Amino acid sequence: MKAKELKKKYLKFFKEKEHAIISSASLIPENDPSVLFTTAGMHPLVPFLMGEKHPQGKRIANVQKCIRTGDIDDVGDASHLTFFEMLGNWSLGDYFKEEAIKWSYEFITDKKWLGLDVENLHVTVFAGDKDAPKDSEAEKVWLELGIPKERIHFLPKEDNWWGPAGDTGPCGPDTEMFIDTGKDPCSKKCGPGCYCGKYFEIWNDVFMQYNKTADGKYEKLKQHNVDTGMGVERTVAMVQGKSTIYEIETFAPIVDKIKKLAKIDEPGDEQTKHLRIISDHLRSAAFILSEGRVVPSNLDQGYILRRLIRRSIRSGRQIGIEENFCKDIAKVVSKIFRGDYPEFDENKDFILNEIEKEEDKFSKALTKGLKQFEKFGKDGKISGKDAFMLFSTHGFPVEMTEELAKEEGFKFDKKEFNKEFEKHQKLSRKGAEKKFKGGLSDASYENSKLHTATHLLHQALRKVLGDHVKQMGSNITPERLRFDFSHDAKLSDEEKQKVEDIVNENIKAGLEVKREEMSVKEARKAGAHGLFADKYGEKVSVYTIKGFSKEICMGPHVKNTSELGHFKIKKEKAVAAGIRRIKAVLEEDKKE
Ligand code: SER
Repeated sequence: MKAKELKKKYLKFFKEKEHAIISSASLIPENDPSVLFTTAGMHPLVPFLMGEKHPQGKRIANVQKCIRTGDIDDVGDASHLTFFEMLGNWSLGDYFKEEAIKWSYEFITDKKWLGLDVENLHVTVFAGDKDAPKDSEAEKVWLELGIPKERIHFLPKEDNWWGPAGDTGPCGPDTEMFIDTGKDPCSKKCGPGCYCGKYFEIWNDVFMQYNKTADGKYEKLKQHNVDTGMGVERTVAMVQGKSTIYEIETFAPIVDKIKKLAKIDEPGDEQTKHLRIISDHLRSAAFILSEGRVVPSNLDQGYILRRLIRRSIRSGRQIGIEENFCKDIAKVVSKIFRGDYPEFDENKDFILNEIEKEEDKFSKALTKGLKQFEKFGKDGKISGKDAFMLFSTHGFPVEMTEELAKEEGFKFDKKEFNKEFEKHQKLSRKGAEKKFKGGLSDASYENSKLHTATHLLHQALRKVLGDHVKQMGSNITPERLRFDFSHDAKLSDEEKQKVEDIVNENIKAGLEVKREEMSVKEARKAGAHGLFADKYGEKVSVYTIKGFSKEICMGPHVKNTSELGHFKIKKEKAVAAGIRRIKAVLEEDKKE
């Protein structure tokens, strides 16, 4: 069974269990302050896990593109990836533990579906702690299905609890499914949850029955949800009897191409690690670029993209690739995925050009930077200043310097670099920490206000600049909104003022904000704008700000624009050719 077939079977299985199939959301989260990338299928569904009604109903399934930057240092082992495809099924206040576990079991073991040998199936269940009791309900279902006690393992929160992905939000105990590959255990302690490669985690059923509050309490959620995630690459590897994900058909051609470029036949351990890093990282980079919205930079998603490409280039050098090669690999990636993801064809030139530009930029800098690094390291230490110099002059992501220092046994303290970085005022440390911790927003009131303000801003921009203005991205933190849009000139002070005035007039007018459900076709007919009109599936929710704007959007929003206060643009700049970015805030209402 190949990846394509697995995806098809999974969706068919859950369709038969009355799930609506929705499309993958973008890798770049809309309206989510705290994460740079979509890390799981549940991510775009948070408002619905919190109780908002999903236009497609209470049972949802899909294949979601995910990026997990937190796993970057684990890449190189048998199973960790920065980009992966996740199969997911959700119950939004509908079925719970019994159905979820029974269906997972059926899909994994039934000959009609995956037909994996049940004897190799191990499961883990939440052991219980001060916040929540042991998950005896999940245990009971597994026992009923015939999984013997020896293959049910109880683990603490670290292993068997999912979420909240940020500081607050929906979360709960989970039960994870592992396949025993038959390898020898690495130690006496070896078991599911150990990374040695004996046990492969393929699926995670999360039972979202709690909401973690800002003061660290776990409140029971009114609505009981199920959020499951099955890794496509890992599952395919297990079904095909492979011992690493790099051997499956969506990876092997990438690895083969790199081997060819490096003229390696039988890679040793170090070489294998680099082959894996390059294939994982450039696959992720190609997927990020395929959405046509992010280019390598020193900020946010662009910085991660830059790190992925630059680390690949360095790994390439390590295995003897001196010429530019990233574009060649991106071509292989596109060829593998263009059938499932049309964005690879839509943005073909963009992907190849951007990856090549970045490689051109960094290849030269790398040689010089490595020499400089060696000089700096003569005293056995890389200071924060050194690392900052490597970053600003040679374009070394600090993580690369950290990795190099580790390899060479040099002392290096990243905090020193952060201080240095802060001094240079590129990014506040607080902002960076928040961003890199990752997490989901709670659907707080501030968030809703800024979300509604974003719709007003979008429409105001269209009125002032013209109908070509299209949303290219949006990100909201509790403090501010950020809106990227297509327009190819700097806004004049006059234009900015006009935009602000229009937004503020519409706030003062106290316009009603209304949500409706309709088909994509109806929404288009009604003149709704929307970034991902085709991607939400059949029914979409449309938010109308009375007499002013209409957008396809998942919300949340306030009920009336009068709740917003005073709108102010803080910054306006270019983020890429033809794309501008506005940061704006809502201030306390100005009393006149
Ligand atoms: N959110 C859970 C995970 O990522 C299940 O999908 O593992």
